[in-house]
Amino acid sequence: MAPTEPPPHRRPGAALHPLPPALEPGRPVTALAPMQDVTGHAFMGLIAGFGPPDLFFTEYFRAHPHSSLEPHILHSIDANPTGRPVFAQIIGDSPTEVLRTALGLLDHPVAGIDLNMGCPAPKVYKKNAGGGLLRDLERVRAIFESLRPRIPGRFTVKMRIGFDHTADFDALLDLVDAFDVDLLSLHARTVRELYHADPHYEFITRAVGRLRCPVLANGNITSADTALRILRETGAAGVMVGRSAIRYPWIFTQIHRRLRGLDPQPVRLSQVRNYIDRLYEALRDPARPPEATVARLKKFLNFVGQGVDPDGAFLHAMRRTRTPEELFMVCDRHLLRPGDPVFPEEPYPGVLARPNRESAAQSCGL
Ligand SMILES: Cc1cc2nc3c(=O)[nH]c(=O)nc-3n(C[C@H](O)[C@H](O)[C@H](O)COP(=O)(O)O)c2cc1C
Repeated sequence: MAPTEPPPHRRPGAALHPLPPALEPGRPVTALAPMQDVTGHAFMGLIAGFGPPDLFFTEYFRAHPHSSLEPHILHSIDANPTGRPVFAQIIGDSPTEVLRTALGLLDHPVAGIDLNMGCPAPKVYKKNAGGGLLRDLERVRAIFESLRPRIPGRFTVKMRIGFDHTADFDALLDLVDAFDVDLLSLHARTVRELYHADPHYEFITRAVGRLRCPVLANGNITSADTALRILRETGAAGVMVGRSAIRYPWIFTQIHRRLRGLDPQPVRLSQVRNYIDRLYEALRDPARPPEATVARLKKFLNFVGQGVDPDGAFLHAMRRTRTPEELFMVCDRHLLRPGDPVFPEEPYPGVLARPNRESAAQSCGL
């Protein structure tokens, strides 16, 4: 693709919309990554209770000819439980439908509109939405062209470094820059790499050098130490954390402490046991049988279990439970131990949250 001409609406030298004021003014910002079926109202509120990140992003709103704004996602905006700004994410392939969805969302108290250009679920990318957009730069341009002039505030993008190669990476960045995108959250993997390849952080450094807008580094930010290392290596304006916030909800507090030059405060396994109780309450749906809540909670515990023991014994036992009583018994056995050991900030190497290709086909997550 030829180098991008600035679009006609762009005023040379126009100020970009700055990010909302950070919790620690002048320091790098933190964000909870959008995660479908995870970062709803309840989980956002829970995370905020452990010490919030600077920014939140909703699960994605679908934009297609028959779509309407999903009420349960709107709830996380209208009744935002975090005290922090929340960006609304949209997924779609049609400039008209994405615009219609964005205009609907602007009637709600959003910090900005975020476009998903990274979802690797085949049912999404095959329709050229999410990560599929990275194969079609003309479509990206058309969506940016439709959205940017009609969004008076922040327009942000979350993307990966390419679909199955990175040859278009600079051209994508040029589009981001030319259309005055206000923030780029960059997951440093291709769509084909899903969630387990080592992130290619050098692309974050490249984006930081090429763009005027702030860049959030995303992908395997697993602890405060990792966050500080990646911030130093890439020069990013901040970090976006997904799975490690499920495993270790104290991560934002620890990052903010480290940014202030303070040591992290150790978290004990008994605190993790308490977190699981709070998760259960947050996910509980009184209209459904308790086993349904257990099934949902187990998806979260898949991540938590990566830090409980180095052999994956908790995960093994937890996955075999069905009722709340069985589950809580396993939790008590593995988390209420003599001496109350420290819950490590990093996951144990080799203890996997059971990647499942089948479910990757259904959603943006694992
Ligand atoms: C369960 C799950 C659901 C996700 N859903 C979304 C989503 O709706 N929108 C999106 O942009 N990314 C989604 N992602 C990707 C994350 O936002 C993030 O980019 C990715 O997990 C890498 O960051 P991490 O290593 O900190 O988890 C999802 C990831 C997971 C694990």
